[in-house]
Amino acid sequence: MTATTEPILEVTGLVKHYPLTQGVLFRKQVGAVKAVDGVDFTLGRGETLGIVGESGCGKSTVAKLLCSLERPTAGSILFKGEDITRLSGRALKAVRRNIQMVFQDPYTSLNPRMTVGDIVGEPYDIHPEVAPKGDRRRRVQELLDVVGLNPEYVNRYPHQFSGGQRQRIGIARGLALRPEVIVADEPVSALDVSVQAQVVNLLDRLQAEFDLSYVFIAHDLSVVRHISDRVGVMYLGRIVEIGRDAEIYDHPTHPYTQALLSAVPVPDPEAREHRERIILTGDVPSPTNIPSGCRFRTRCWKAQERCAREVPALAVPAAFRDASGPAAHDSACHFAAERQVVPAEGEHGNGPG
Ligand SMILES: Nc1ncnc2c1ncn2[C@@H]1O[C@H](COP(=O)(O)OP(=O)(O)OP(=O)(O)O)[C@@H](O)[C@H]1O
Ligand SMILES: [Mg+2]
Repeated sequence: MTATTEPILEVTGLVKHYPLTQGVLFRKQVGAVKAVDGVDFTLGRGETLGIVGESGCGKSTVAKLLCSLERPTAGSILFKGEDITRLSGRALKAVRRNIQMVFQDPYTSLNPRMTVGDIVGEPYDIHPEVAPKGDRRRRVQELLDVVGLNPEYVNRYPHQFSGGQRQRIGIARGLALRPEVIVADEPVSALDVSVQAQVVNLLDRLQAEFDLSYVFIAHDLSVVRHISDRVGVMYLGRIVEIGRDAEIYDHPTHPYTQALLSAVPVPDPEAREHRERIILTGDVPSPTNIPSGCRFRTRCWKAQERCAREVPALAVPAAFRDASGPAAHDSACHFAAERQVVPAEGEHGNGPG
């Protein structure tokens, strides 16, 4: 699925396999953890792409690859047209400055022994060219102000702040080098629901103010809804469906997305009554042992023999190709257009009921 504006990131065939070893002395490789196993997407300038999926599906690994904190096993990441996966030295440093990460847990990602001023200003130690020493304190105070914290707090320590305030500190730090892209890995998952919206709103405001492009990662489709222009759904190391937010929320065509959406609470009792509940059974298979063909088939109520043989491509399903309606977005399912539910056997997923 192409971005809605000129692309700032173009990710193609991204793979990260961690070797699985046995024994302490000889560390024989016995397999691989396929954390990311063929991910494609583009991020447009000024756009927010939400990425959602269950625990362990590879979201944080994608985030680390985008921020050059890990090197991919295969695939490419173009930043403004240049492949950044093979850079080293100064070129790598320059790119890292431009693509910054905001971490999930503000309780563990901030060093408790550093003052807020040192935490927010630390990126300038690595990139002194951005802020000369004498200018740092002023810059840090400006950053605190930008994220809605009192600039006078520079000498306080993380434990003196609430969870939401700590996440603001993490965001200020992420902004210090004036990046063009921010990869936010579950930035609100560790926060109280009442605080989540404030942090999401802050990110929204900063995006407009600093012309930022976001990859916003979450567990849950409801969290990314308000901030995302497009949403990608991950399952076991791959994106299985991606599209504009109305396409994904109102016309999901992949059975996994349909199941995730059916689990999102619906406030309206009437709508709730008419909704199909899809309960997924079975566990997510291990990323060391990914099913053949469609990786979702072991939990899918639509699965057929073909699904074990053929890997479905992430593309607009043939049946929707000519229509330009909301169903016409990329979905990696052989039976995306089939409405009727095929009863599954054995440990396959349950149908709607
Ligand atoms: N350094 C590593 N070595 C080996 N396996 C790893 C490593 N990092 C991640 N993995 C494995 O890769 C898979 C994907 O992990 P990742 O952290 O990317 O998932 P996630 O979607 O971010 O999960 P969560 O929602 O729990 O944060 C998991 O099975 C994880 O155990
Ligand atoms: Mg994670």
